[in-house]
Amino acid sequence: MKILVIGDIVGNPGREAVRALVPQLRRRHDLDLVIANCENVAGGAGVTPKTAQELLGFGVDFLTSGQHIWRYKEIGPYLNQEPRLIRPANYPSGAPGSGAGIIQARDGTRVGVLNLVGRVFLETNTDCPFRIGQREVERLRKETPVILVDMHAEATSEKIAMGWYLDGQVSAVVGTHTHIQTADERILPKGTAFLTDLGMTGPYNSVIGRRVDQILERFLTGLPQKFEVPEENVILCGAIVEVDPKTGCAQAITRVQERLLPF
Ligand SMILES: [Fe+2]
Ligand SMILES: [Fe+2]
Repeated sequence: MKILVIGDIVGNPGREAVRALVPQLRRRHDLDLVIANCENVAGGAGVTPKTAQELLGFGVDFLTSGQHIWRYKEIGPYLNQEPRLIRPANYPSGAPGSGAGIIQARDGTRVGVLNLVGRVFLETNTDCPFRIGQREVERLRKETPVILVDMHAEATSEKIAMGWYLDGQVSAVVGTHTHIQTADERILPKGTAFLTDLGMTGPYNSVIGRRVDQILERFLTGLPQKFEVPEENVILCGAIVEVDPKTGCAQAITRVQERLLPF
C-alpha cells in the first residue's frame, strides 16, 4: 500500500497546493492514504476548525500537527470532536484531543498515526517523546502493524534518534516542523522508513514560508516584525511510503516535491 505524507501546509497558498495537487498525486501514484501536517495552515501559524475541514475536503484523510496547534482557542473543542485531527501525544495529560488515531486506508488497511513533538530547541513544556512514543506504539500495535509517526521537532538529532528508537516497531518515522526537506530518506535495518524532514507545502521563495524582506528586516534590526505568507511560487513537499500491509514493514520511501505552477 502507498501512503503520501505531506509536510507543514502553510497558509492559503499551502491549502491551494493541496486542493490542486492531491487529487493528481492520488491518481498518478495510486495512493491508498494521504496524511498531512496542518499546524501552519491558518494564516501561517495555527489551525482553525474551518481550515482543518477544508483540508479534509480536499482529499487529505488525516491531519497531524505540532506546537502551533494551540494558537486558536476554538481548536480545543474541535480536537475533541474530530478524530481525523491529532496533536502531539506527549503534551501533559489533560490537553484537548488525542495524540494518536487509526484511519482506514482505501485498500481496507487500518493505519495507526502517531504525532510527537521534540524537546530540543523548542519552547514546549512536554513529556518525553521517546517514552510516550513507545507507550503509544505498543497500544497501536494491538490494533494494526501499519503505523506512521510524525515526529515534529527542530533538531535533526532528536528526529533521527526517534527513527532508530522505533525501528522495527512502526512503518515510518517522518519529521516535520523545520519546513526544509532533507535528502536522507532510507529504510532502517529493521524495516522502518525514515526521513528527517518532509519539507513545507507553501511559498518556495520565502524564509520557511514567510516574506523574505520581513524576515531580513527582523534579522538586521532585531525589532519585532509582521510576518506575512507570500502567495507565489508554491510547492508541495512530502514523501510516499510503500508498506506491506501484512507485516507493517516499509518497502520504499520516495521524496515528493511538486510545484503548483511552473516557476
Ligand atoms: Fe511548521
Ligand atoms: Fe512546528
